[in-house]
Amino acid sequence: MRKNIVAGNWKMNKTLQEGKELAAELKQLLAGAKPACDVIIGTPFIHLVTVSEELKGSVIKVAAQNNADKESGAYTGEVSASMVKSTGAEYVILGHSERRAYYGETYEILKEKVLLALKNSLKPIFCIGEVKEEREAGKQNDVVKAQLEGSLFNLSKEEFSNIVLAYEPVWAIGTGLTATPQQAQEIHAYIRGLIAAKYGSEVAENTSILYGGSCNPGNAKELFSNPDVDGGLIGGASLKAADFKAIIDAF
Ligand code: 13P
Repeated sequence: MRKNIVAGNWKMNKTLQEGKELAAELKQLLAGAKPACDVIIGTPFIHLVTVSEELKGSVIKVAAQNNADKESGAYTGEVSASMVKSTGAEYVILGHSERRAYYGETYEILKEKVLLALKNSLKPIFCIGEVKEEREAGKQNDVVKAQLEGSLFNLSKEEFSNIVLAYEPVWAIGTGLTATPQQAQEIHAYIRGLIAAKYGSEVAENTSILYGGSCNPGNAKELFSNPDVDGGLIGGASLKAADFKAIIDAF
């Protein structure tokens, strides 16, 4: 059966020292606890080694927030999937709407990033979701379908089994607006149906689909109680250990 997952996305926050402290605090809070979900934190590249080391002996796993769409070579400023893997990270967040919107990441670029992540044994946490105008026009299903078809549905069944999906409506990210539990359930079930049609119901049933967008200790329980919502990808609330722990405890 699929896993429940609570993953943090720190985005571009925290110096190395602050990040190390936050990781240590979380480790402490979770020590001895047996969370009813997998716990992942997605840090900036430069934190990966330090945070992975800090979290040794804890249940918390580490994700990068990106990897390059090229394997290696003359790509100044880029960080490859094999480099990410060598830090101890096990996951990588790909396709986040902020990267699509601000850094021009297209379906094609993301397709390459996913392939390279998988080739290097990283598990992608792949983000999809519509903007406000698309939701208002009732086009959210078409948008997530195109995102899946454009960057993931080229994968084999075996490859796709390593993907975690995150549905993140762009209008809910960092805005304090959250999808209602019903809106989340509806589109998560739709997404699972698309996976079933492409890869069969077993793969679909085993795929974790997380919700992201202003998820917090106050709304996590209700969101996670839906049958097709398998956890959350948490931005702002992952920057405070107590809030992140409270979201984990929603399971
Ligand atoms: P917020 O939880 O801050 O809305 O961010 C969600 C997000 O973008 C996680 O990737």
